[in-house]
Amino acid sequence: IAAALGPKPLSGRHVIVTSGPTHEPIDPVRYIANRSSGAQGTAIAAALVDLGASVSFVTGPASVPPPPGVRVLPVETAAQMRAAVMEALPADAAVMAAAVADWRVENAAAQKMKKDGSGRAPALSFAQNPDILAEVAGLGADRPRLVVGFAAETEKVEEHARDKRARKGCDWIVANDVSPATGIMGGAENAVIVIDADGAETWPRLPKDEVARRLAQRIARALAWKED
Ligand code: CTP
Ligand code: CA
Repeated sequence: IAAALGPKPLSGRHVIVTSGPTHEPIDPVRYIANRSSGAQGTAIAAALVDLGASVSFVTGPASVPPPPGVRVLPVETAAQMRAAVMEALPADAAVMAAAVADWRVENAAAQKMKKDGSGRAPALSFAQNPDILAEVAGLGADRPRLVVGFAAETEKVEEHARDKRARKGCDWIVANDVSPATGIMGGAENAVIVIDADGAETWPRLPKDEVARRLAQRIARALAWKED
């Protein structure tokens, strides 16, 4: 029966998926992080595997395990995530679902920081992390044919996401409202707006697995359409 149905729509395709938060060390035992669970990125990777893709899953320290059937590339920091993504190229598509920390601690300590008895708190200074999505979208010959970014916003979601798509040079932005009141960050559902060159598509609030399934199908259609 499988043979009669023909090959899966993404068989023979390589897709890089980034997922989860990154951890930026303060010292060997402390770090800066964010509330990303990795659930949406994990669901997308699983849905891509279901459609036959070979998936390189570059994941920060997520609270959900990676899905079966992917090649797992575990990382901790944004710098490590960037290196792993570059290593994993070339790919037909890249889906950047990770919540990459925007800043790293520039003066991270090599040893555990100790209270010095003065009652004063240490001063951390920050440096901006590399923008992995923008870098991948701006590649020449090595650029995946389809580069998908996410936009986590807490206000003016569509407007900010359109700006982000233009600024980063990616093909699609999957935007969502991560205001605490929506319960999306850390929750089982997601409500997204998919922005591409043709405009904006507002999807209903759906389980993250269903958002992932629809996105994987949309990716399969786009790659078939943009056929070499
Ligand atoms: N991203 C990335 N590398 C970074 C920061 C973000 O690859 N250093 C990617 C994310 O994985 C996501 C997209 O860029 O696909 C947008 O992330 P977001 O945090 O919404 O955007 P930023 O450009 O960081 O802008 P903001 O100041 O709104 O956080
Ligand atoms: Ca950011």
